[in-house]
Amino acid sequence: AQEANLVKLSPARSDVQISRHIYGHFAEHLGRCIYDGFYVGEGNAEIPHTDGVRNDVVEALKQLSIPNLRWPGGCFADTYHWKDGIGPKDQRPTIVNTWWGGVTEDNSFGTHDFLNMCELLGTEPYLAGNVASGEVQELADWVQYVNHAGRSPMADLRQKNGREEPWKVKYWGVGNEAWGCGGNMTPEYYADVYRRYATFMSDWNNSGGVFRIASGANSSDYHWTETLMKNIPHLLLEGVALHHYAVIDWSNKGPSTTYSDKQYFQTMKSAWKMEELVTRHTAIMDKYDPEKNVALVVDEWGGWYDVEPGTNPGFLYQQNTMRDAMIAGVTLNIFNNHAERVRMANLAQTINVLQAVILTDGDKMVLTPTFHVMEMYKVHQDAALIPVSVQSANLTMDGEELPAVSASASADSLGNTHVSLVNIHPTDKQEIRVDLGKAYRSVEGRLLTAGDLRAYNSFDAPETVVPTGYQGARLRENQLTVSLPPFSVVVLKLR
Ligand code: AHR
Repeated sequence: AQEANLVKLSPARSDVQISRHIYGHFAEHLGRCIYDGFYVGEGNAEIPHTDGVRNDVVEALKQLSIPNLRWPGGCFADTYHWKDGIGPKDQRPTIVNTWWGGVTEDNSFGTHDFLNMCELLGTEPYLAGNVASGEVQELADWVQYVNHAGRSPMADLRQKNGREEPWKVKYWGVGNEAWGCGGNMTPEYYADVYRRYATFMSDWNNSGGVFRIASGANSSDYHWTETLMKNIPHLLLEGVALHHYAVIDWSNKGPSTTYSDKQYFQTMKSAWKMEELVTRHTAIMDKYDPEKNVALVVDEWGGWYDVEPGTNPGFLYQQNTMRDAMIAGVTLNIFNNHAERVRMANLAQTINVLQAVILTDGDKMVLTPTFHVMEMYKVHQDAALIPVSVQSANLTMDGEELPAVSASASADSLGNTHVSLVNIHPTDKQEIRVDLGKAYRSVEGRLLTAGDLRAYNSFDAPETVVPTGYQGARLRENQLTVSLPPFSVVVLKLR
């Protein structure tokens, strides 16, 4: 009989790097992501901070080696006028955060605060420009303000505001969700808008080396990607975005912790959909860009559920369980496996919003199961892709099937091979034969699972879900057998 689970590794592709930028994050002015999450204000006497940025958060995010951080939105980006967020804080204007709860935004966290915070985190900033309600000149000025080294009106203003050297920001989003909150545009119209904005963000040769990312498709809107690839000259285009959330039904998203077995299946179905999306958007991009110069940037992904009862519906605050660990494990394996085209991605969102890696409550902080998956998977950052083929047992529900097992592998510069394996099955363990393609001497691993699929880390019990050592792998030269518990993530290191 055919084996249920078989993972086969091919030789490493030294020409395909799993970009560390696949492990990027996203911080929007939304709910308690920036305020309360990252930033508690310079005057805060209760929570230890550096220039208003929480020290506990900085330490935690450093453990993830986060490669980039997208800001200030999301939908907020197309309402944001960056000049409101510079200069003396007591003179900054307030605005209304129209998309997210209608709260008053006092602009106390602005460009300097964000870019200095990125330096503190050791991460590259990814600024999302306002295209829908801003002006071309405004975005061009922002590029000059943060990147120009010589004398110029914007560089002079930056220096007046206390920053001598430019930050040299490489990654720039040209609007966000232009098909929706970013202006409700058609792809044809947006492609023309993009051309105008992108033109004034650089010079003839893009000597500043800006990496411009076009606002991309909503999930399976393939016409969107096709139109951008066709209508935008590739000299103006370094990346095309894609947004896809693991959501059951936008009008009935279900609870974050007390989901039914059926809701678990539906969420995982939506997470697995990423495989098809990335494959098909890539195929379209290959048609117009066979050299793969333009990156596919999945700059919003993650699970989206109903908000926690009693919290502001506009703040998108949700708990994070082993289901989220499954989404993260499967999705990151998909990105790794498509690393030739997917060269950047951003989990939505870092703190207190959607599939967060960190939750805070006053001075308390908790690391979610998703945090631990990101930490375990960081071994893939900038490693050479090892292509895998996966034959998997199925998870079935009402006649529908999903693969239970997901895998990806890479070879790092120190001579280690890492294999990440996920079993999304809620009740069945998986015995997997891994054909390694070459002999190894040793294997060690780490495991993330819990006593309950719905387990999560709370402020009272922050270590309910944490990685442990893993003893379930048996190595015999080029063959490995692995026993994966139900709903688990395992990362193996082979030497
Ligand atoms: O991440 C929350 C929101 O989801 C973002 O602001 C928007 O881009 C998307 O619709």
